Amino acid sequence: MVTKPYVSDHYTPVPDEITAFDLPVRGALPPELHGRYLRNGHNPKPGITPTHWFKGSGMLHGVELAGGRARWYRNRWVRTPALDGAPLMREDGSLDLTASVAGTHVIEHGGRLLALQEANLPFEVTPELETVGAFDFAGKLTSAMTAHPKEDPVTGALYFFSYSPVPPYLTYLVADAKGDLVRAEMVDGAGPSLMHDFAITETKVIWLDLPVVFDPAEQSGIPYRWHDDYPARIGVMDRDGHTDVTWIDVEASAVLHTTNAYDGPDGTVVLEGPRYDRAGWETSWKWWAGLPGCPDVPVTGATATRWVLDPVHRTASRTELDYLSTDFPTINPTVLGRPSAFSYHAAFPGAGLHEYALVKLDTSTGERIVSPSGPGRQPGEAVFVPAENARSEDDGYLLTIVSDLRADASELLVLHARDLSLTAAVTLPRRVPSGIHGSWIPDARLG
Ligand SMILES: [Fe+2]
Repeated sequence: MVTKPYVSDHYTPVPDEITAFDLPVRGALPPELHGRYLRNGHNPKPGITPTHWFKGSGMLHGVELAGGRARWYRNRWVRTPALDGAPLMREDGSLDLTASVAGTHVIEHGGRLLALQEANLPFEVTPELETVGAFDFAGKLTSAMTAHPKEDPVTGALYFFSYSPVPPYLTYLVADAKGDLVRAEMVDGAGPSLMHDFAITETKVIWLDLPVVFDPAEQSGIPYRWHDDYPARIGVMDRDGHTDVTWIDVEASAVLHTTNAYDGPDGTVVLEGPRYDRAGWETSWKWWAGLPGCPDVPVTGATATRWVLDPVHRTASRTELDYLSTDFPTINPTVLGRPSAFSYHAAFPGAGLHEYALVKLDTSTGERIVSPSGPGRQPGEAVFVPAENARSEDDGYLLTIVSDLRADASELLVLHARDLSLTAAVTLPRRVPSGIHGSWIPDARLG
């Protein structure tokens, strides 16, 4: 049997759950970091090889930092029905919203920790990563929830959505700062596209209705495929008003993740994110699904891109901001939806790089900093934590877990966001598989 790439090398699952205290630290952990770095990813149980990377059961890894010390590490599966083999579809063909692998992201909102995966309900977990159960906003959420909600940094409200392969294709959702679901409205005009992410500005919501669309013929278990005949459109909608969408035709693209979006001074809307063309998407998908001929290492055909959208004239212009192959973009969360200059990306081998790296882009100057990870080392998404009393957008830290195959080990790196220099590295008790998305949860947010 061919070993699937997403359960090999950096992605080899761990077989069990462990807890370790008082972890060794190289360098100096910033004493102002009081909280938890949590990261989600796919970690199927021993003996199970899912048909697609995204179908592996979710496992959370957490490190608690306080007072310059790394107090604990623990890893826990998210205990969903799917972990024990429950099918994602009921016998009548309908989707069971609790049958989630919950393996894409983990966030805090309203004091609650939620493990997310876009086809299902969120799963609440405790600050020690034990599963509480499916969370449906006190019965108000009756559809799936994206794994990429956006919290407004000023109001604390959470903006998110549900998408579906069958009508209604798109539902707009808003929870207030306390976590009460205050809005759930169908959005007209969207189609059955793979809408993994979206964006908000201070006044707008940006929808991505792009040509990777529902296709039941796709056999990998994730029934979506690129279709050239599907028109590529980006939608602009009032964030806090009615749900009429202005759809703007764009060049055929796939966008898994948005970096940021903001209102331009002239009525335009700026959107940034890694963009895939068809070839880049299909090569990436081959690895994600472990299809014959897939590359040995995960590649991404995406490059950092900016669209300037004009909702009045329904036009869009597109600029490639950098040619490196990157994804997993992050920003300082205090500028989400506001004009921003700095973004941080995981770079993949290819397009001039021979190994994995973290990259900082400065879109105000076009400059970039590349921090190669070293042979056999793969960093994940770099989560930005603002410094206390930060004086600039890039005054803060980046947190990421590195998988080191040569040493069969992992570290939690804490980098200065300004120049990507190392502040501290926490030695984790064993290698942590490369994963998906994570968050920094300050202790203050957990009461
Ligand atoms: Fe994602």
